[in-house]
Amino acid sequence: MFNSIGSSVIKIDELDSTNLYLQQISKLQTMNEGVLVWTERQLCGRGQQGNIWYSKEGESLTFSFILSPTFLMADEQFYLSKAFSIAVNQYLVKKFQLKVQIKWPNDILLNGKKIAGILIENNILGNKLKQSIVGIGINMNNQVFPEQLRATSVLLNSAHKVDLRECIDEMIPFLNEMYSLVILKQWKEIDRLYFDSLYGYKKNLRFHSDGYFNGRIVRVDEVGYIYIETDAGVKKYTFKEVMFC
Ligand code: BTN
Repeated sequence: MFNSIGSSVIKIDELDSTNLYLQQISKLQTMNEGVLVWTERQLCGRGQQGNIWYSKEGESLTFSFILSPTFLMADEQFYLSKAFSIAVNQYLVKKFQLKVQIKWPNDILLNGKKIAGILIENNILGNKLKQSIVGIGINMNNQVFPEQLRATSVLLNSAHKVDLRECIDEMIPFLNEMYSLVILKQWKEIDRLYFDSLYGYKKNLRFHSDGYFNGRIVRVDEVGYIYIETDAGVKKYTFKEVMFC
């Protein structure tokens, strides 16, 4: 029986990483699906590809929740990424009227700068998913960022200084709505929503892989491969193989 995301919300004053915490605790005890953990002081946030996720106390929203999507095949796992990036994107549009977009695979960007990131860590058993820890970081009340980051925040783009706990409560229905589409395997609907918000979808863009080239994103599949069309045809790439310029 699925307990909805956020059926229990736990605040911990300080953590290295909310993802790491859920991973460690789920090894020690059985966790109810949907448990959400957040902190105002994340000391060593984990980002994609082993990067560090920058967060500042009371300004950055950092939380993770645990799921058991045992109905998902390993090669359908990117639907979790699509679903939760749509949920975060929709929340920022509806609540703050921000013109955010999803940048493949699942970054949330505003005017070319990162406003939110999602890290999903899956445990796979055989060819099915056993457990997923979904971590979400949103720059909410931040006014400055380290120089090297191309980042922005809700506060810098609206007059809103927000209450972080309230934001979690407001976002939970968006997360549950999108997760229910995953449970029902509504792939067409998830794809429609993902491509509607995908940065550069079917537009001419410049990329770098072996060299520089111009192309158009025409598809992102269930494993997360991006398909780029050029004059030479359509070629697929994984995350590390291609960069946007
Ligand atoms: C990215 O690199 O874009 C993903 C960033 C994900 C950051 C969030 S913050 C809450 C959760 N805990 C972590 O350690 N990382 C994720």
